[in-house]
Amino acid sequence: MDDRLPLAAAPLIGPLPLTGTIRQLRPSDLPRFRDHLLRLDAASRRDRFNGATNDGFVAAYADRCFAEGAAVIGYVEGDEVLGAAELHERPEEAEPTAEIAFSVERRLQHRGIGGRLFARLIQQARGLGYTRLFVTTHADNLAMKALARRFEAALSFAEGETVGTIRLEPAGEEDFFPFPRRMKTGAPAFA
Ligand SMILES: CC(C)(COP(=O)(O)OP(=O)(O)OC[C@H]1O[C@@H](n2cnc3c(N)ncnc32)[C@H](O)[C@@H]1OP(=O)(O)O)[C@@H](O)C(=O)NCCC(=O)NCCS
Repeated sequence: MDDRLPLAAAPLIGPLPLTGTIRQLRPSDLPRFRDHLLRLDAASRRDRFNGATNDGFVAAYADRCFAEGAAVIGYVEGDEVLGAAELHERPEEAEPTAEIAFSVERRLQHRGIGGRLFARLIQQARGLGYTRLFVTTHADNLAMKALARRFEAALSFAEGETVGTIRLEPAGEEDFFPFPRRMKTGAPAFA
């Protein structure tokens, strides 16, 4: 799948066109993911982590994400991760459930990257067999609330926090067999 953001959609006047790619991060992307989280401006960092955090906490958090096997999708431009969507399993839940979180660097916010990351993360979550996703933010986070609503998250408010629940349909056969199953006779199985 070509996940490059469409250049044609770039305005003629205004911010530079988006040239990056949405892709799953590899283990070797850890330093780039860590740098991305550390570059978040103070307000975005507070929104992302639901409170004040210092650099040590953020760096250790990034390391833990990779060590504990979270799936992380990135918006990547060149050698930099500039946006991320994380999927963390919640093994204590009886139903296959994961917690999701998002971050887009300030200068790139409000340009559709969060929505693209969200869509890709949902695809990944379905592929992993999760049927429920939680997203937590504070009640004033308008961008996250708009994003969650777009993906039909049922939002509920409790003690200043907004917890969104997204129900996922189980992956269908088309998710596993995207190509015709019967090969033409005579075609080599592998080139
Ligand atoms: C939340 C976040 C990931 C959204 O990323 P983004 O790339 O700006 O998102 P998009 O451009 O795809 O916009 C998504 C929606 O949010 C809305 N939105 C974006 N920025 C907004 C803002 N500052 N105020 C109000 N709404 C905003 C958009 O209009 C869009 O709404 P729509 O679906 O009704 O059109 C980004 O703002 C961010 O990183 N915030 C800091 C970290 C955070 O809050 N993470 C979420 C908690 S885990």
